Amino acid sequence: MQTRGKFATSFGVLTATLGSAVGLGNIWKFPYITGKFGGAAFIIVYLICVALASLPVMISEIVVGRRTNSNAVGAFKKLKPYSAWPLIGYAGIASSFLIMFFYTGVAGWVYSYIFRALGGTFVNATSDVTGTIFKGLITDSLSPIIWQVVVLLVVSVIIIAGVEKGIERITKALMPLLFILLILCDIRALTLPGASMGVKFLFNPDFTVIKGDVLLIALGLAFFKLSVGMGTMITYGSYFGKQENIPATAVKVALSDIVVSMMAGLAIFPAVFAFGFKPDAGPGLLFITIPMVFSKMPMGNVLLAVFFLLTAIAATTAMISLLEVPVAYLVDEKGWPRWKATVLSTGIIALIGSTASLSADPAGVLGATKIFGKTFFDLYDYISSNILMPLGGIFIVIFVGWFFGKRNLQMELSNRGRLKNGVFLNVFLIITRFVSPVLIALVFLNAIGILKI
Ligand code: PFF
Repeated sequence: MQTRGKFATSFGVLTATLGSAVGLGNIWKFPYITGKFGGAAFIIVYLICVALASLPVMISEIVVGRRTNSNAVGAFKKLKPYSAWPLIGYAGIASSFLIMFFYTGVAGWVYSYIFRALGGTFVNATSDVTGTIFKGLITDSLSPIIWQVVVLLVVSVIIIAGVEKGIERITKALMPLLFILLILCDIRALTLPGASMGVKFLFNPDFTVIKGDVLLIALGLAFFKLSVGMGTMITYGSYFGKQENIPATAVKVALSDIVVSMMAGLAIFPAVFAFGFKPDAGPGLLFITIPMVFSKMPMGNVLLAVFFLLTAIAATTAMISLLEVPVAYLVDEKGWPRWKATVLSTGIIALIGSTASLSADPAGVLGATKIFGKTFFDLYDYISSNILMPLGGIFIVIFVGWFFGKRNLQMELSNRGRLKNGVFLNVFLIITRFVSPVLIALVFLNAIGILKI
């Protein structure tokens, strides 16, 4: 039996967990979804979803992981042997694969854009030009797949290096760098003439667009953003030391994650408005609008490369945590060495993930293939973000609220009585027993059409 890894420092715990939360979600999904659904109004709904649903799930997952020192499946096997609870863990492994299928593809585009920006591809480009370049990339049958493989190689090397020497060491170096690069981009965007429109857009609420389906989108995003509902935080929680303050760490991660999303929004929207573009360009915002907007600034190419570098960093630290879910399972439960677990998992992702890259554009190789009316890309995203993660989230909070044992919960939340947070325990119990499950269930049933809000 090999000894399991652990994060060695509290700073490492924070950077690794935040590294999982911060990702393409902040820079790609959050801005375009906010752009589409009413700016600040959407952000308010999103914040409520974080506070009442995804943050409680995050705390619950870390508690279960640290308590059991186990991967997402093993944790439930230890706590409730011969029960159906480990299914949560298996569903989590499925989600992590589904997300990796499309996430590695988008990350590949991001990696390739760093080099394109540096090479001057976007100098003085119009939207037609950046649009054509993006289409050219995603309709190509080879280049997106090569980039996807490059991304997988980078992530694999870090995972094989181990929990402390790989995940912790890399995130400790990269997360501070990410903040510095983001601040740089913010300063540039906010000092552009006309930037205030973008700031207003981000902070002025338009509640008329908030309907039932927007609620589901906010909830799905809140889960995706904090990497919860699928065992990632159980896995990382199992690497937390006994002295780490779980609720405080989770709150710090959730707040910092929101700060990063806002900072990304502040780097993007002021520039978009300053140059007279529309904020609701959809997923293309990052790859079509941004390159064009940045190319209009002095030294725009360098800044664009910086922007894509920070996006690549965010995506990479998030993918590390995604890949760690199946790897930890294979290592713990099947006794495999890390390298073997990593090679098998990445192999599956590379094979099936290519269907996501190739279906990303209607004109792409698999663009016309639809399953349940969705392309492969959208299908993987939809099943993981809108179905498996909310379902996983409900069962995890129900498990911790009702079946984990109040005393066990108290031991984990207070570090065996060392932290004085008795009131918090009671509030947390009410939230996990009633508020989160009901909220997630309502939004979920509405989304799949069983209930109409
Ligand atoms: N939280 C990441 C993001 O916002 O991009 C995505 C993610 C990472 C989701 C890890 C789930 C996960 F387990």
